[in-house]
Amino acid sequence: MSGDPKDLFSKFDPLIAERQALLDSGVRDPFSIVMDEVRSPTLALIQGRETILLGTYNYMGMTFDPDVVAAGKKALDDFGAGTTGSRVLNGTYQGHKEVEAALRDFYGTAHAIVFSTGYQANLGMISTLAAKGEYVIIDADSHASIYDGCFLGDAEIVRFRHNSVEDLDKRLGRLPPEPGKLVVLEGVYSMLGDIAPLKEMVAVAKKHHAMVLVDEAHGMGFFGKHGRGVFEEAGVEADVDFVVGTFSKSVGTVGGFCVSNHPSFEVLRLVCRPYVFTASLPPSVVATAATSIRKLMHAAPKRAHLWKNSRRLHQGLRELGYQLGTADAQSAIIAVILPDQDRAVRLWQALLEGGLYVNLARPPATPAGMYLLRCSLCAEHSDDQVGQILAIFEAAGKAVGVI
Ligand SMILES: Cc1ncc(COP(=O)(O)O)c(C=O)c1O
Repeated sequence: MSGDPKDLFSKFDPLIAERQALLDSGVRDPFSIVMDEVRSPTLALIQGRETILLGTYNYMGMTFDPDVVAAGKKALDDFGAGTTGSRVLNGTYQGHKEVEAALRDFYGTAHAIVFSTGYQANLGMISTLAAKGEYVIIDADSHASIYDGCFLGDAEIVRFRHNSVEDLDKRLGRLPPEPGKLVVLEGVYSMLGDIAPLKEMVAVAKKHHAMVLVDEAHGMGFFGKHGRGVFEEAGVEADVDFVVGTFSKSVGTVGGFCVSNHPSFEVLRLVCRPYVFTASLPPSVVATAATSIRKLMHAAPKRAHLWKNSRRLHQGLRELGYQLGTADAQSAIIAVILPDQDRAVRLWQALLEGGLYVNLARPPATPAGMYLLRCSLCAEHSDDQVGQILAIFEAAGKAVGVI
């Protein structure tokens, strides 16, 4: 028997057609923006125009910190461009140990393990901790890396309604008491920028004898007295078993981690496949991360400025008449909700033409099929820039007819 093979790409035809129809309507492709030059944490050159960046996760503006950049350059000179190996073979340099020490100091924990991305940290931690016959209990709006960690493992998955303490309690109550259980929460949910009621949720998890993992990807750096995250601000540090995080947001580079006080934690280095079967981070990356993390321990003035920016933008956008994802500024993410794709893309483009870059988010990344323009603030946005951002939102919103 011969013949053409069935085209495995045909399942993507509807998506390709939808995207083409959008581009044919004359708008720019929101998912292929190129930063031709990046001038600072808050400014880039995009197609010849200086543009304010309001769609990065550079919350603490560490990407251009002179000490961070110098540490990266030195490590590149001293240790070369990459490790070419796994952490458990030739890929552990002194810099990997140093960044793990910096994390232990930052979080005040006994253990820290570094992965090559935050995505892999969730894949590794969730799939390794919960095995066949055990349970992972997750928020329905969890990040893709949490879902993928569940799919990689063999445990049973139970979802509860987004941020509902009651639903978490109900679903945990229906599970058999014997098997191990891992409740996975996020400090800040990155689509709407809302925070989890961690105090109540952790108490419910403990009542049902479940272990708790909190992903602080979007909370590290500016929540809590030491900037550890929402779990610190909620006062539940002693009851959270594992904190997962990333270097790709407040830390300003790339990488992922988990910290914990569990006495058997180090065994993960032998059994966690997304840690073992991949190359370790380059020396320059771990050096920048370690320097950044140590500086974030003393960043109270930056934190205060970030919160000021976030509150001012939230209030300003609300006063302009925009519908926002939260009633008040709960984090450094402020989501503007648009009624449909057409208006979302047109507003996104009008903002870009006005000199402002924000993130467009669409289903399936967003909850409940929403179209969002996600604004994420930086501690390096000046008061003047926040004023400019509001002026651009006013002009663009009126031009597109959404306010
Ligand atoms: C909640 C959450 N967890 C994990 C990640 C993955 O982080 P990384 O970019 O380091 O892979 C992200 C990134 O967007 C995230 O938002």
